[in-house]
Amino acid sequence: MAKEIKVVGLGGSLAAQSNSLAALKIALEGAAAAGAQTELLDVRELNLPMYAPDFGEAPESVSRLCQAVHEADGLLWSSPLYHGTISGSFKNALDWLQLLSDREPAYLTDKVVGLISTAGGTQGLQAVNTMEFVVRALRGWAVPLVIPIPQAWRVFDKEGHTHDAKVAEQLHALGHEVTRAARQFASKVITTPDAARAEAEIQPISEKEAKAGE
Ligand SMILES: Cc1cc2nc3c(=O)[nH]c(=O)nc-3n(C[C@H](O)[C@H](O)[C@H](O)COP(=O)(O)O)c2cc1C
Repeated sequence: MAKEIKVVGLGGSLAAQSNSLAALKIALEGAAAAGAQTELLDVRELNLPMYAPDFGEAPESVSRLCQAVHEADGLLWSSPLYHGTISGSFKNALDWLQLLSDREPAYLTDKVVGLISTAGGTQGLQAVNTMEFVVRALRGWAVPLVIPIPQAWRVFDKEGHTHDAKVAEQLHALGHEVTRAARQFASKVITTPDAARAEAEIQPISEKEAKAGE
């Protein structure tokens, strides 16, 4: 029997009514319609402390974030555009994924990620591109389809609903695409132990990896 695919959505902002969260929920509906088991990680609800390398014992919110991401086959990330890039609270959530450095496999190895941003203006692709840098740094695979939503204030109402059928269709398509790609990845061995070792030696992002490559 084919493995059940889990898609985790991470995003939103610290705003009580968040457009990026509304967009993420619609994309997750698309993933669920494509047969994935889904989980939503709302940045505001997670209420993560600022990442610090020597934080001591991880708080419950951090453990929840890291465990859900580690168990996911596919991810949907959604950040608002803040000053031309991703928001600080969203980046802080990504910084905590450093705790996945010693998981097996490390970081986002063999996970596929779909990227969404919401902007007041038209430069949302800048946040998407920033997120893609992070996906690559964490050894994940971004799906080619991305959804930067310009003038998001026109698209979502206060309840987080949209009357823009085109945007809803695109977000559903992204959820579907992440599920489809995650299913492909889950059916095969993509990153072999040799490839994982080479990645860790050439692009170490933890001290453990840097020392192992010496
Ligand atoms: C601090 C801050 C910085 C922002 N910077 C930009 C920006 O550089 N370009 C832009 O188009 N919109 C910018 N916006 C607008 C947000 O991207 C937009 O309102 C977005 O939909 C907010 O998402 P949220 O509701 O999930 O917080 C900014 C908003 C805030 C609060």
